[in-house]
Amino acid sequence: MHKDFIALTDFSSDQLHEMVDLAIKMKAVPDEYRSALAGKTLGMIFNKHSTRTRISFESGIYQLGGVGLYFGPGQLQLDRGEPISDTAQVLSRYLDGIMIRTFKHSDVEDLGRYGSIPVINGLTDYNHPCQVMADMMTIQEKLGKCERHKLCYIGDGNNMAVSLLFGAVKFGVDISIVSPADYTIDRALVAKVAEEANERGCKVTLTESLEEGASGAHAVYTDVWASMGQEDESNKRVNAFDGFQVNDQVMSWADKDAIFMHCLPAHRGEEVAASVIDGPQSVVFDQAENRLHAQKAIMYTLMR
Ligand code: CP
Ligand code: NVA
Repeated sequence: MHKDFIALTDFSSDQLHEMVDLAIKMKAVPDEYRSALAGKTLGMIFNKHSTRTRISFESGIYQLGGVGLYFGPGQLQLDRGEPISDTAQVLSRYLDGIMIRTFKHSDVEDLGRYGSIPVINGLTDYNHPCQVMADMMTIQEKLGKCERHKLCYIGDGNNMAVSLLFGAVKFGVDISIVSPADYTIDRALVAKVAEEANERGCKVTLTESLEEGASGAHAVYTDVWASMGQEDESNKRVNAFDGFQVNDQVMSWADKDAIFMHCLPAHRGEEVAASVIDGPQSVVFDQAENRLHAQKAIMYTLMR
């Protein structure tokens, strides 16, 4: 088992399935795990905003009997130039695990490389693996299983698109990614998982057509058009993504029992119509809840 939880591609399909199964069990019988990580301390480093990640990790480690220590932007010597390698080695002497949300993915990898304790990626500009574990758990709960279902992601080829691609391939989900031409996912990443997708019989489609992407989908997913750190591009992106909103028309192309998914926070009237996110097909708050259970399973697996 990989020491760190930084990208889904570091784990086998079986290992990720086991973590999701454990998360489902922890959700059903949380009391059985109340002292699973007793005496353990999780450091939580945040260089970006967060509601779900921060609160679900902090409450998750408490529910497992451990303690969470929060460090916000500008609080560590790291922000005054102390090398990541030194920080990683020092923190490894105090803590039992680190969760970090930051900009550069390579910073998280360095923290894992130089530290001896597990490092968990709470979102980088490149990916958001904890979110996708909660998402696969939600798909399994709502649709009975992940395999052979079709997920359509509509929006920016961002950190969520990348993690959903990796997650889909690991969990045997067919995925169509629908983006405007200038905002597509990096094709090299599709190539990176092509062999595994092939072995698992899992279809990956990139398209600009919402109708083609959403057609027959069992889950329709979207995310913000401007991610954290891209605030100054907001206006430009509102224009570029015009016509890429998940609305009732898009949901009508999907399977009649399709679920609507969003990692949140959402912008009603931009990437999603209020009638969809607040409508009966939406499972967004189940996804948000499942962050807690999925991350408890990740911490339990790596930190015991
Ligand atoms: N989905 C998600 O990661 O939410 P936060 O940014 O609130 O943590
Ligand atoms: N793509 C979004 C995801 C937020 C959970 C961002 O990076 O801001």
